[in-house]
Amino acid sequence: MPPAQQRYDLVIAANRLPVDKVVSESGEESWQRSPGGLVTAMESVMRNQPGAWVGWAGGTGPAEEPFDLDGMHLHPVGLSVEEVRDFYEGFSNDTLWPIYHDVIVPASFHRDWWATYRQVNARFAEAVADVAAPGARVWIQDYQLQLVPALVRRLRPDLRIGWFNHIPFPPVELFAQLPWRGQLLEGLLGADFLGFQRQADAQNFVRACRQLLRVATKGDTVAVDDGSRRRVRASAIPISVDFKGMEDLAQQPSVVARAHELRESVGNPRVLMLGVDRLDYTKGIRHRLKAYEELLAEGKVSPPEVTFLQVATPSRERVEAYQHLRSEIEQTVGRINGDHGEIGAPAVHYLHHSYPREEMAAFFQAADVMLVTPLRDGMNLVAKEYVTCRYDLGGALVLSEFTGAWHELHQAFACNPHDIEGLKQAILRAINTPTKEKQRIMRSLRRRVSQHDVQRWAKRYLAALDAAPERPGTAS
Ligand code: ADP
Ligand code: F6P
Repeated sequence: MPPAQQRYDLVIAANRLPVDKVVSESGEESWQRSPGGLVTAMESVMRNQPGAWVGWAGGTGPAEEPFDLDGMHLHPVGLSVEEVRDFYEGFSNDTLWPIYHDVIVPASFHRDWWATYRQVNARFAEAVADVAAPGARVWIQDYQLQLVPALVRRLRPDLRIGWFNHIPFPPVELFAQLPWRGQLLEGLLGADFLGFQRQADAQNFVRACRQLLRVATKGDTVAVDDGSRRRVRASAIPISVDFKGMEDLAQQPSVVARAHELRESVGNPRVLMLGVDRLDYTKGIRHRLKAYEELLAEGKVSPPEVTFLQVATPSRERVEAYQHLRSEIEQTVGRINGDHGEIGAPAVHYLHHSYPREEMAAFFQAADVMLVTPLRDGMNLVAKEYVTCRYDLGGALVLSEFTGAWHELHQAFACNPHDIEGLKQAILRAINTPTKEKQRIMRSLRRRVSQHDVQRWAKRYLAALDAAPERPGTAS
């Protein structure tokens, strides 16, 4: 074990570190922010409290040495080429991800992927056990690390172990398809407390334990059948954004100026519509483009008066379903522009890049209508970020009912993305509702997000973890 001064009272374990190592073509190494909502949220939590973050640095090969960054202690876990393929791209993102998102694309089941998932989870558990101080709190994140709670408990029974799922937890009928469903549930039940985005996710988990493990459940707790007579609680604690930090950023004069510049560079439309997503089939990008294409064809909107900017972050580019999605989206964008664009005035501006936070804040401020149309999404922080950046009370949020965010942001222009007619109507309502009414809506959306920010989320989560029943033999 490392010396005592290198052990921490709070340890986060997430598949990714907040930064990825990138190696340029000339061989130069640098660190860049990792993609996704988990990193956005956990980074703002961990910047403000001492602790270690155990995670993968994005490349292949042996782990880098632990290092400090912006007040966080980062402890890399290495993955081999085969592990990236079988654990990350395979089991995590081609087996679990589709099952946990309503099987929007079919899931693949491979026994060797599962073996690698177990192997990598064991490595994460060992890294956590190495850096955690006696009696420390360990906060394990997301679906990539579902075996880690039980593995850590075995290695370090003195630790208090929590897990939070950033994505949905599926209904038992879908979860039951997993050949390794029992082991996954037992892995999670190694925790003292399990957090989910929505009440329905927590209930799905409890039901899965009851039906598939045949253990006793009562309300939101599950009795653990390992001789310890523990009960594990599964509750909803929805994640959020750093409201103050992002609002301050959005108010910076350089960001405000950049928002104006962005509008000018897309031709100063009366209505700029925006989509911002990882390029993922769960996000409903195809549905949103279809609705927009039909509105164009029907003459209900037309460029350059109305235009649409889609920012798509590259994601999981070696997984087949993501490759198909990318080519489909890019073909659709090409077709829409061919049919409806003019020279210098495309109907869709499409950007396939990652941007710094300042640029994201400027995009949000520039957009009159934000289209958040996932078919299924654990939360969707983009929706909350948009609202956070609209301190001017401008803009309108079109929000899918299938996001966790919708359960908190009911006043938004709701849509069912499968219902293309309904989605078109929601878009038109977001464009045409009088400004005063839109400001009233934006004010109430902002109130919700400001009062339920990521700092509050982390406090609530850690309080729930601390309040979990003492384990037999560990009470002081
Ligand atoms: P997910 O976790 O599935 O990616 P979320 O909406 O919860 O979805 O979180 C996405 C996060 O990634 C947000 O913080 C958003 O601002 C950020 N993001 C999305 N697209 C980009 C991009 N092109 N460049 C930089 N950050 C991005
Ligand atoms: O919250 C969903 C999530 O899968 C996170 O676990 C992950 O960090 C993020 O989206 C981005 O995905 P990936 O790490 O596969 O690039």
